[in-house]
Amino acid sequence: MLYVDAAACVDCGACATACPADAIVPHTALTEAQLPFLALNAEYFATFPHADRPPLALVHEQRRLRRPGPFRVAIVGAGPAGLYTADELLRHPEISVDVFDRLPTPYGLVRAGVAPDHQHTKQIERLFGQIESQPGFRYFLGVEIGKDLSHAELAARYHAVVYTVGAASDKPLNIPGDDHAGSLSATDFVGWYNGHPDKQDLAVDLSHERVVIVGNGNVALDCARILAEDPRRLESTDIAALPLGELLKSSVREVVVLGRRGPNQAAFTVPELVGLAGHTGINVVVDTGDAGFDESGPAHDVKARILRDLAARPVDPAKRTIVLRFCSSPVAVHGEGRVTSVEIGRNRLETDEQGMPRAVPTGETELLETGMLLRAVGYHGLPVADLPYDPVTGTIPNRQGRVMPGVYVAGWAKRGPTGFIGTNKSDAEETVDRILDDLDAGIIREPVGTTQGLRGAIRGRQPGMVDLAGWQAIDREERRRGAVTGRPRAKIVDVEEMRRIAGESTRPGYASLRRWVGA
Ligand SMILES: Cc1cc2nc3c(=O)[nH]c(=O)nc-3n(C[C@H](O)[C@H](O)[C@H](O)COP(=O)(O)OP(=O)(O)OC[C@H]3O[C@@H](n4cnc5c(N)ncnc54)[C@H](O)[C@@H]3O)c2cc1C
Ligand SMILES: NC(=O)c1ccc[n+]([C@@H]2O[C@H](COP(=O)([O-])OP(=O)(O)OC[C@H]3O[C@@H](n4cnc5c(N)ncnc54)[C@H](OP(=O)(O)O)[C@@H]3O)[C@@H](O)[C@H]2O)c1
Repeated sequence: MLYVDAAACVDCGACATACPADAIVPHTALTEAQLPFLALNAEYFATFPHADRPPLALVHEQRRLRRPGPFRVAIVGAGPAGLYTADELLRHPEISVDVFDRLPTPYGLVRAGVAPDHQHTKQIERLFGQIESQPGFRYFLGVEIGKDLSHAELAARYHAVVYTVGAASDKPLNIPGDDHAGSLSATDFVGWYNGHPDKQDLAVDLSHERVVIVGNGNVALDCARILAEDPRRLESTDIAALPLGELLKSSVREVVVLGRRGPNQAAFTVPELVGLAGHTGINVVVDTGDAGFDESGPAHDVKARILRDLAARPVDPAKRTIVLRFCSSPVAVHGEGRVTSVEIGRNRLETDEQGMPRAVPTGETELLETGMLLRAVGYHGLPVADLPYDPVTGTIPNRQGRVMPGVYVAGWAKRGPTGFIGTNKSDAEETVDRILDDLDAGIIREPVGTTQGLRGAIRGRQPGMVDLAGWQAIDREERRRGAVTGRPRAKIVDVEEMRRIAGESTRPGYASLRRWVGA
């Protein structure tokens, strides 16, 4: 949540124009559902009076390399962390970057994670489009490092290799029965509705009235909204075609979101809660368990107050309902190989030695009938071949982004699966600083090979490799197909089809044909 000091703001509108995700809106343009942000903003400055202080976003002098280049950097992963890293590196004319991704499409979780009903967030793609169009930037999409190309092969050709591979898996729940059919990870479910090519075969059965989601972070809220939303409202988004068809037939009426701790410890953020509270098409029911609302602390009172207001709202039986249930943990999943109910244990809160409220089971349990359990307890990074790996955090061990001179990491693979798209920018800046330090210090050895002929060599192993022109052709085709039905894009989910469309764009004569038709 960003707070703007009304006393200091000169109302020039520059921040609203510049925000790449359209997250800053003039107060005159707020929708009905966004109006609570006015009071939240004003209250912040009442609680934390704005004493004179220097500007928070200091503009640093652009750092310059002390050694002459050229330097080549490989970036593995074309998500936000990879693209912000590329952008930072390309501020240095001595550096060129090659960005690899295992999928033929870039943008990581912006394409395959951000919920389809959050289309405004996807406007960050415009910024990514500018980054990838800079001189010195090349894409090698549809190329998996560790499979199509090894770390050693990259290290031999580049001065530095930066891993920005994200966190592709999920944290396990480890309760009896959580491997039954109908028990899915939110990681898979999110990939399914967002058209991730690897997730389109997921067996999602929406023929039951209730879904139970474990965890109450922003991912849990995304999944709950998608399940409780009137699917006709999703028809104008970029949701994948198959999941939309399933949601249109869905029998789900109630989505129960389980938080193991109390309302004050809910992991979802205030803007997401305000968004849900302002949703006119969904009932929100709040069940605090034994915890109650603690509105005393300045950091917590906003969330608790919104939840208390929600708890007092009447329920409209014509609408689907999201139940935010607190002090509740699943203890077992029941059913004959397929989920039919979840056993839920009640918790009380205890403060631990660090002063943190912890959930402690009371021993009381109850059975909740459901046909589907979604585990939204966090993402988890997978190991990359030939790189160190911390299995507990699912990250590549590093110090401020440096794994060793010549090998670096940024984004979720560096700090774990937390933070927004923008968090990866400052994270990438820190990593790039370490790369510049090492280049300046001369502790990175000269690569033994070159990148000349690399494209040809990769095509020998992975003929379907996609470059920038190929990705732009896929993007154009998705937007063209989407426009037919009034959607921002109709996602292509088949990798071979993507490769074919990309391949056609690079055939001799295609570029001049495009110029001729003005496309
Ligand atoms: C469901 C969900 C919804 C979210 N919604 C929002 C939101 O609305 N707003 C917001 O600000 N933040 C949101 N976030 C957070 C945001 O998406 C992340 O902070 C961000 O995507 C992390 O960036 P990353 O580049 O580290 O990882 P990713 O975005 O995961 O990118 C990693 C990339 O690496 C590629 N890759 C992986 N392994 C290899 C390999 N071996 N070889 C080549 N390529 C590889 C992957 O294909 C992927 O493209 C959301 C997160 C999730 C999970
Ligand atoms: N719109 C957005 O901006 C947006 C959307 C989606 C995601 N994101 C960001 O992406 C990141 C990842 O989100 P996330 O929702 O996956 O993770 P998260 O915010 O870390 O939430 C994980 C949730 O799972 C719970 N949990 C963990 N282990 C559990 C267990 N064993 N049993 C029961 N509950 C358990 C946690 O409870 P405890 O708190 O008690 O540990 C928490 O409620 C976050 O930083 C999020 O803000 C942002």
